[in-house]
Amino acid sequence: MLKIAVLVSGGGTNLQAIIDAVEGGTITNTQIEVVISNNKNAYALERAAAKGIEHICISPKDFESRAAFHAAFLEKLNTYQVDLVVLAGFLVVIWPEMIAAYKNRIINIHPSLIPSFCGTGYYGLKVHEGVLKRGVKITGATVHFVDEGTDTGPILLQKAVAVEEGDTPEILQRRVMEQAEWQILPEAIDRIANGRVRVADGKVCIR
Ligand code: GRF
Repeated sequence: MLKIAVLVSGGGTNLQAIIDAVEGGTITNTQIEVVISNNKNAYALERAAAKGIEHICISPKDFESRAAFHAAFLEKLNTYQVDLVVLAGFLVVIWPEMIAAYKNRIINIHPSLIPSFCGTGYYGLKVHEGVLKRGVKITGATVHFVDEGTDTGPILLQKAVAVEEGDTPEILQRRVMEQAEWQILPEAIDRIANGRVRVADGKVCIR
C-alpha cells in the first residue's frame, strides 16, 4: 500500500480528483495518510474533513522565521511515514532539506507543458496568462518529480489541451484542470503505487 501525503494551499480540486480516484478504484494500492495546508483557510482542508481524512495546517505565519517553519513542517510530515508526497496546488517552494529527505518521492502538478510556461513566476493564473499572451495553440499539464530547481525535475506524465478563440486565463485554467490535471495526477499516483515508474538519468520510464 502506497502511503501518500497531499500538500495543498487552495481550493483543492486536484485533491478532490485524487480522493475520487481512490474511492472509484482508478487509483489502487494507495492510502491518503494526511492532507497538509500552509493556509488555514484552504477549502482543500474542508474536502479532506468531509471524507474523514486527517488534515492539518502548518502556517509560516505561526513561526518566527522561514527556517523554523521549514523545520517544523518537515518534522511533522516525517511523523506520517509516507512513501510519496503529492503537491496538489501547494504554493510553497520546496526547500533543499525536504527535497533531500524525499528524493524522487515528491511529485507536482504544473498547469502547462513543461518546459514552456514554467519556472519562477509561473504559478496559478500567471501560467495561463503567459500562454494567451504568447498565442500558443496547445497547452496542457505536466506531472513531474520535484528536484532542486523550479519545475525542472524528471517528467512523469503530460497531457495536451487546446487553446481556443476567446479564452480568458480563467476559462483556460478550468479547461486545463478538467481535461488534463484531474486525469494525469491520479494516473501518476496509480502508476507509482503499482511499481510502474522508474527514474534513471533524470528521466522517467513508465510501464
Ligand atoms: C492547479 O492549477 C495546479 O496545477 C496549480 O494550482 C492549481 C491548484 O488548484 N499548481 P486546486 O487547489 O487543486 O483546485
